[in-house]
Amino acid sequence: MITHSNYTVEPWVLRECGINLDILPQSESVFALSNGHVGWRGNLDEGEPHGLPGSYLNGVHELHPLPYAEAGYGYPESGQTVINVTNGKVFRLLVDDEPFDLRYGTVREHERVLDLKTGLLHRTCEWVSPAGCAVKVRSTRLVSFTQRAIAAVRYEVEAVDSDVRLVVQSELIANEQLPQGGGDPRAAVALESPLLAEENFASDARLRLVHTTARSGLRVAAAADHAVTGPGSTRTGSESGDDVGRVTVTSHLQPGEVLRVDKVVAYGWSSTRSLPGVRDQVDAALAQAVGTGWTGLVREQRSYLDDFWARADVELDGDEEIQQAVRFALFHVLQAGARAEQRAIPAKGLTGSGYDGHSFWDTEMFVLPLLTYTASDAVEEALRWRHSTLGAARDRAEQLGLKGAAFPWRTIEGSECSAYWPAGTAAFHVNADIASAAVRYVSATGNRRFEEDIAVELLVETARLWRSLGHHDHHGVFHVDGVTGPDEYSAAMDDNMYTNLMARANLRDAADAVERHPRRAAALGVDDEESAAWRDAADAMHMPYNSELGVHEQHAGFTGHQVWDFAGTRPDQYPLMLHFPYFDLYRKQVVKQADLVLAMYTCGDAFDAEHKARNFAYYEPLTVRDSSLSACVQSVMAAEVGHLRLAYDYLVEAALMDLEDKENNTRDGVHIASLAGTWMALVAGFGGMRHSGERLEFTPKLPERLRRLAFKVHIFGRRLRVEIKATAVTYTLLEGEPLTLRHCGEEITVTADAPVERKLPLWSVHPAPAQPPGRAPSHDHDQIPS
Ligand code: BGC
Repeated sequence: MITHSNYTVEPWVLRECGINLDILPQSESVFALSNGHVGWRGNLDEGEPHGLPGSYLNGVHELHPLPYAEAGYGYPESGQTVINVTNGKVFRLLVDDEPFDLRYGTVREHERVLDLKTGLLHRTCEWVSPAGCAVKVRSTRLVSFTQRAIAAVRYEVEAVDSDVRLVVQSELIANEQLPQGGGDPRAAVALESPLLAEENFASDARLRLVHTTARSGLRVAAAADHAVTGPGSTRTGSESGDDVGRVTVTSHLQPGEVLRVDKVVAYGWSSTRSLPGVRDQVDAALAQAVGTGWTGLVREQRSYLDDFWARADVELDGDEEIQQAVRFALFHVLQAGARAEQRAIPAKGLTGSGYDGHSFWDTEMFVLPLLTYTASDAVEEALRWRHSTLGAARDRAEQLGLKGAAFPWRTIEGSECSAYWPAGTAAFHVNADIASAAVRYVSATGNRRFEEDIAVELLVETARLWRSLGHHDHHGVFHVDGVTGPDEYSAAMDDNMYTNLMARANLRDAADAVERHPRRAAALGVDDEESAAWRDAADAMHMPYNSELGVHEQHAGFTGHQVWDFAGTRPDQYPLMLHFPYFDLYRKQVVKQADLVLAMYTCGDAFDAEHKARNFAYYEPLTVRDSSLSACVQSVMAAEVGHLRLAYDYLVEAALMDLEDKENNTRDGVHIASLAGTWMALVAGFGGMRHSGERLEFTPKLPERLRRLAFKVHIFGRRLRVEIKATAVTYTLLEGEPLTLRHCGEEITVTADAPVERKLPLWSVHPAPAQPPGRAPSHDHDQIPS
């Protein structure tokens, strides 16, 4: 889309000039605003035309039965789907006798700007009605980072060259009609009229609607208040019904006169609180935000973001498009997690209903790494949410005949809702991913209270799972059989290398944690024998290896499978899972997304440099990247093994996943993991950052395309800036005690008064391996002059 002539490349904003209704659904996703609790898609103020109307409250979902042609033991019975809650962003506008609608009349000018520094979405539009009456419409929208229940809009209409009679209807609408979903099974099932009316209220400029969901039993409330400014002819009235609350403003404007409506919307929901309880909750949130006022909300938003950018900004010289994309990515990841507060972070954030609003391992392995070093409070909250779902995870393990906890592959409220075992619960690695996120957070922040209260229990219960899921063979070697790794084109296989290595770390981390917290361990019923068994299993973990080829196997036997017929696969047959039966994918060498290559990043110590290069070269020609989670990981490892040009191409693919709608599904919401992966590719890839325990290491390399790359990380109570230029890197301590780190294996100490400069390492350049035919990341981007 950004290559689309409507979009410009600018460092701090995403600007759309003109309006192209063909890409309206995509634009609604990229212009979505959220704070992790409330999410508003970038729908036009008038509500129509629209691609997909979307207003979301993190955690608000409806249940639906999961139908199976053949029943089976342990199949989840109920699915969960995010629902479109009460829409508070609508302003219908009547210009003389005609509805303002961009499909009719003439659009003289239209511009939308998402300002990444202020967190505001601006829109300006000049429209001439079919009858020839011209108006200018300006709106500014925010979803507040500082007041998590609040979203607000300033909406202005100006008469242009003749006087005009206007009616503005500012609404709260529940049960909006949704368009029918497309054919992609991954897109959300649109649930019809999911909200049952419970109470409605309108008085002066205030509105409130309260609804419940039929099956999930949640109570949802939205309230709005308005401040209206206009000429003397301006009148305001209000009314409400089951599914609509409306403030109607009428006015008669002379040319140049402006009608302004400031609207503040408060949301609240609960599974337990009473009707008066939830009603009072939104009224209170509304009262506070009205007290802050529009200008105050805008000011708070700016200062929240100033603080974020001071901690998280990534600067690069040499590629303006990627500069913009990385900031866009950081902004959306922040939006997804900032105020989620003990709720899940969905794969699409709150920008669309794709994947039914579910959360996956994406959170722990892609999103939380970025947030750990830039906004760690959000990580604590996300992990506390996981912890709060331990009950369901324990039940699931028991149902499966396993010990400890089996966290769900996909969920909203904690229980498994993947209806497909091979690419669902069988992806047991999610448990080790959660454990590793907790360990990373604790070691980066030193939050010992969290470790004792939350992390130890997560580690113990997941270690128990691994110990019961795997077994020692008669040589004592430990195997984890019948599981699915990150690559969903291999399923229920033995000894997936990524899973085994992550499980090994999980078992060791659990054993270490119980040693540090003996009282907590005792309370969880862990004795010395149990933790010794974890260490034994970890030490004996099998790592499948093909000695003839000298490469590690993604899972036992993988390299013996027939190679997929790539030459016979047409470009329009990707993604493969929509065009070929799974049984055939499963028995061939074809990789949906980085799997062994991911293991080389997350468990890098298990491989020497030579094997990293050989493994990378082996898996590249098999990897088709039918998942948006792949390019960023391939970028990191391509950089590590010295293919910087390829690493850059993968960075570009990850960074532009949504701005260029690379997978043709940005309409369903942005790809939060890939956006977070943009940071990963820059910081872990070109920055070469690795953190494990107390060790922090950088092996920086600058790709040819860039003249400079600078980023900041918050770790061990310090704030460090790393700036990489053509031949040297500078480490600057911005805050905290002296910090010892490794630069390309050399130990250095950085103090507040003396930045340390080092030369970039030299690395040998080998030809990069090829991808499957037609699946190479595109180089087109390089043609754009910087
Ligand atoms: C990927 C998974 C991912 C999910 C949600 C799938 O296509 O294969 O790894 O968790 O999408 O992003």
